[in-house]
Amino acid sequence: MNNYDLLVIGGGPGGYLGAERAAKAGLKTAVTEKRSLGGVCLNEGCIPSKAFLYSAKVYEYALHGESYGVSVSGAQIDHKRVVERKNGVVKRLVGGVSATLKSLGVTVINGEAKILGKDAGNFIVAVGAEKYIAKKLLIASGSVPVTPPIPGVKEGLASGFVITNREILDTTEIPAELVVIGGGVIGLEMASYFNSVGSKVTVIEMLDRIAGPTDGEISSLLLKSYKSKGVEFLLGRKVTRIGADSVTFETNGAEKTVRAGKVLLSVGRRAFTEGLGLENLGIYTERGNIVTDENLRTNISGVYAAGDVNGKSMLAHTAYREAEAAVNHMLGIKDSMSYAAIPSVIYTNPEVACVGETEETAKAKGLDYRAVKLSMAYSGRYLAETDKPEGVVKIMVDKQFGCILGVHMLGSYASEVIYGAAMMIETGMRVKDVKKLVFPHPTVCELLREVMFNI
Ligand code: FAD
Ligand code: NAI
Repeated sequence: MNNYDLLVIGGGPGGYLGAERAAKAGLKTAVTEKRSLGGVCLNEGCIPSKAFLYSAKVYEYALHGESYGVSVSGAQIDHKRVVERKNGVVKRLVGGVSATLKSLGVTVINGEAKILGKDAGNFIVAVGAEKYIAKKLLIASGSVPVTPPIPGVKEGLASGFVITNREILDTTEIPAELVVIGGGVIGLEMASYFNSVGSKVTVIEMLDRIAGPTDGEISSLLLKSYKSKGVEFLLGRKVTRIGADSVTFETNGAEKTVRAGKVLLSVGRRAFTEGLGLENLGIYTERGNIVTDENLRTNISGVYAAGDVNGKSMLAHTAYREAEAAVNHMLGIKDSMSYAAIPSVIYTNPEVACVGETEETAKAKGLDYRAVKLSMAYSGRYLAETDKPEGVVKIMVDKQFGCILGVHMLGSYASEVIYGAAMMIETGMRVKDVKKLVFPHPTVCELLREVMFNI
């Protein structure tokens, strides 16, 4: 019988985790996936990019080991091997998701799901010729890259000259000249990797800063660091045309052209809802995103939407938590999604990790705040492990109540430390509360405590 308590559309982080949590709670659950379980995150996003960046890190260690007393002669990076290793990691993780779903009794349906409508209180969904009936739906169909209407983009994508995250993470060749359009997270992570492995990388970004929503000071420090490693940035430039082997952009009213072996298009992502049949239920969307509330409910009772498809925060960890909040609501468990302290990380070398208010958002909201910074050189661990102490911790504190509004870090371990800052913000901790905590020494995380004594 194709009858389920819950049918999940999409097997990415939002979908597979939602299915896991629902099945564990006793719901008869099915998940449909048209490509590969794990979604963008496992197959062509978070994990593959982190595997690439780790290989670059190991390579950089080998190249620059002398000052740590380690000499490696003839260090080389074999990009094909990096891709092979990445494929191995992906296979293992996707296999893990598949095995977990199986062990929990979740039915995995391979194919593209389309919502047909509602009948006798149940939702009807088609996958190919087969029909499925479900009491509840969780839409987790994710997102796809934005393709701007720039002349030459369509042709470039068709010829393989212009690529997106999907192709670049599978390419086994290192382009001699890589032009990256968009200095956001994907652009920066890929610029960092391909710069490390020998491409001449040029990033063209239409804003006058990189890493858009990141705190301005941290963004400037990151820019300086990338530039010192040889990445070229053309900021405040708008791409006007893509040719057969070049990219043309506008600068001060004139046009200039830069040569490219490949062009990475990374100008943002948009919710994917095509062909889902949202219109058959009348599910509301706003600027392409499915509209959801704090329980991830759509306007249609019994239909939920988690992850990139609701466009609130296109990150895997948000998708996870949203899926849990949605399933809990289905189960009648009191829960709701909080977006107040969602960490974001740029996994380049140096890493950037942030949570909460930036100076820019605090100013825009008229918050009465104080910003305090501390060099990571105050950490013995950090100094013991770096010859280039460029790292920094910056916190934003509410002047009146002393609670922590934002934490921004640039430097090693930032990605692993930031969850502590998120906990401080989410639980409303004040400076005086953090001062009383004991942090392990020597670590980079102890700087989160130390910075509080500079207020
Ligand atoms: P997705 O992962 O997009 O999964 C949706 C799934 O639904 C897809 O597998 C798709 O095939 C399937 N689907 C769609 N429509 C249908 C249908 N009709 N029927 C059946 N199946 C369907 N986030 C982080 O938190 N950390 C990172 O380091 C990070 N790195 C990233 C790097 C890159 C290069 C990219 C592109 C993204 C990265 N992200 C990262 C973002 C992260 O990948 C997404 O936020 C996350 O994958 C969203 O999960 P999701 O379940 O909403 O959607
Ligand atoms: P993004 O939104 O991070 O950055 C896109 C950048 O492109 C912006 O800076 C924007 O100003 C610029 N841009 C837009 N149009 C342009 C144009 N025509 N010419 C030049 N620049 C232009 O989007 P990105 O990098 O594509 O990543 C998409 C999403 O994927 C991220 O927002 C994030 O949610 C997720 N992601 C997360 C990662 C992480 O957590 N480490 C890593 C990679 C992606």
